[in-house]
Amino acid sequence: MTIQEINIKYQVYGSVDEMNPEDRELVAEAVKAMQGAYAPYSHFHVGAAVRMSNGQIVRGANQENAAFPSGLCAERTAMFAAGARYPDKDMLSIAIAGGVMGRLGSQPATPCGACRQVMAQYQAKSGKPMSVLMVASGQILKFEKVDDILPLIFNSI
Ligand code: THU
Repeated sequence: MTIQEINIKYQVYGSVDEMNPEDRELVAEAVKAMQGAYAPYSHFHVGAAVRMSNGQIVRGANQENAAFPSGLCAERTAMFAAGARYPDKDMLSIAIAGGVMGRLGSQPATPCGACRQVMAQYQAKSGKPMSVLMVASGQILKFEKVDDILPLIFNSI
């Protein structure tokens, strides 16, 4: 028996002013995307923005439904829209912003497990790292690749 360790490094920004212009733009798009949330049950509004390899940004927001499992998170709404709109392009980065009643939270909106798995697959499809930005008011976390938020990714089939 051996014990292995997984180390995760990520960047913490105190303000968008510290970020490169592309990340700053994507963060702003994710915050804007929160306006598209339809969240009559949780009142938790989430926006996501995906940067494609052709420079386009595709936005998504969470969509809830009275039949609960039928709704979808912001991240998957954005990624599925991006995949459908630009099937031949790569998803290079995704930013996520969320908060109660559309007010950006003091803690970053962290993606659920199902969304991380979908990110992992689009990253594998492109063969390039997809960075993940999690946005809060006064703090942004940046992970360089999906592996950093989903170690031991399932990709066996
Ligand atoms: N939600 C997202 O859209 N993304 C996340 O990363 C976490 C949760 C949504 C799903 C649901 O509409 C609401 O937030 C409360 O869970």
